[in-house]
Amino acid sequence: MAEQLIIVGSTREQKYQALLPQIEALLEGERDHTANQANVAAALRETFGFFWVGFYRVEGDELVLGPFQGPIACTRIGFGKGVCGSCWQLKKTILVPNVDEFPGHIACSSASRSEIVVPFFDDQGQVALVLDVDSDRLADFDEVDQHHLEALARSIRHRVC
Ligand code: SME
Repeated sequence: MAEQLIIVGSTREQKYQALLPQIEALLEGERDHTANQANVAAALRETFGFFWVGFYRVEGDELVLGPFQGPIACTRIGFGKGVCGSCWQLKKTILVPNVDEFPGHIACSSASRSEIVVPFFDDQGQVALVLDVDSDRLADFDEVDQHHLEALARSIRHRVC
């Protein structure tokens, strides 16, 4: 296993292109989902310096907090609640340029200003896990993040859920 990430490039696009194959390599051969989620959260935060990066897994009718990097966060989120619960309900990525304008946003920290939440699907096409990435800057995420994080979700889903 590589001991450090090598990120070349200056744009976010270039960084994703450098990072994603390294995440795939990092997870290769490791089948523990918790360990893999932990390394994905760490790799994304280390590369981009995001305020909070972490996973919530589906447990019955709730999402439960999984491995994350950043300040402490709320542990349970209901179906359809907040950005994460809406991502689960709608089965699609949700980009929130300004969390104050998202009805029902769950503020784990007042420093979080924008976020993106990406679903991970099981073999039956059900949401099994969501990846939540928060920024302390307004409108920090766009289609570049969505494209690459969705590609990551497709490529590593069997390693994380
Ligand atoms: N903001 C999220 C809750 C999770 S945290 O921000 C870590 C939401 O509205 O679902």
